[in-house]
Amino acid sequence: MNFNISVISGDGIGPDIIEQATKVLNKIGHKFGHQFKFIEVDAGGIAIDKFGEPLPQKTLDICKSSDSILLGAVGGHKWDTLPVEKRPEKALLGLRSELGLYANLRPAVLYDTLKDACPLKDEISSKGIDFIVVRELTGGMYFGERGIKETHLGQAAWDTEMYAVEEVRRIAKTAFDIAMLRNKKVTNIDKANVLASSRLWRSVILEVKKDYPQVELDHLYVDNATMQLIKNPSSFDVIVTTNMFGDIISDEASQITGSIGIIPSASLGKSGLGMYEPIHGSAPDIAGKDLANPIATILSAAMMLKYSFQLEEEATTIEIAVFKVLENGYRTKDIMSIGKKQVGTKEMGQLITDEI
Ligand code: IPM
Ligand code: MG
Repeated sequence: MNFNISVISGDGIGPDIIEQATKVLNKIGHKFGHQFKFIEVDAGGIAIDKFGEPLPQKTLDICKSSDSILLGAVGGHKWDTLPVEKRPEKALLGLRSELGLYANLRPAVLYDTLKDACPLKDEISSKGIDFIVVRELTGGMYFGERGIKETHLGQAAWDTEMYAVEEVRRIAKTAFDIAMLRNKKVTNIDKANVLASSRLWRSVILEVKKDYPQVELDHLYVDNATMQLIKNPSSFDVIVTTNMFGDIISDEASQITGSIGIIPSASLGKSGLGMYEPIHGSAPDIAGKDLANPIATILSAAMMLKYSFQLEEEATTIEIAVFKVLENGYRTKDIMSIGKKQVGTKEMGQLITDEI
């Protein structure tokens, strides 16, 4: 089969890790008889430098007309002083909203072989960590009205957290559908003891739950959830939460599974078009130094095969290859521990490719 993939390398370590992921995809194509055509497009800081805007219309059009999007990372200190509308992150947010990618899936799995990289006590981590965060991605505070105004205390700035019933319904359905394929447990994370938007959110979650009698549902306030994630991570299966809380919770999840460098993500919408990216950022300090961990991006490519192209076997082949390379003791710097073999970005990508 033929697939057109828009590739946004972006900024910082973006090009380093994308190079390894496309190498892996080419190998998969070779092995299974698929043709992956990569269309390079600019977004983020590099697009600001070249075209004066983070998300050029041409990039958006190409992304819209492709079968899928693979993204490295955007952002960097260089563009930190720009106004919010002109920053590289705007490219990411623009792609998410313009493409209607409301469901962000972020799996958090502690590989047995990476136990040493997990900061939790053995008695906690040995129970296993394997859950997925389903983060709402096109609503809430990220996209609500915001502004600056004068108050009796002087200048003030404000952002709005707002959710419509339909926005909650569709993300709830995504979460329950995924739970049906896993261990049939959904944990809703909100702040319903304080926020009106959370109270509506929770009521819609409860409504959708009625269609999934086999799924167990519980609710946690977000502050408590951050504690439970480190005290009792094995109790989670599927987490559903808002854009803002999901951003925070998924970073915490990445730490307890060893490194933010191994967590992939899929952003999906109604149209079937998906965007796949590591959850980590552009790490400009290590860009181009062959230090970045390409595993999160490689596993994002695997998610692409699974969710956008329905190539389950191919996706599993990548996951197994990653697992084997880790089993064989190879580590990038971020997950390095005593007795293991440290390798750079390129070598890690090559080892995984060879394993396939
Ligand atoms: C993420 C990132 C983004 C977000 C930033 C870069 C805008 O932190 O994908 O989690 O906040 O969503
Ligand atoms: Mg984040």
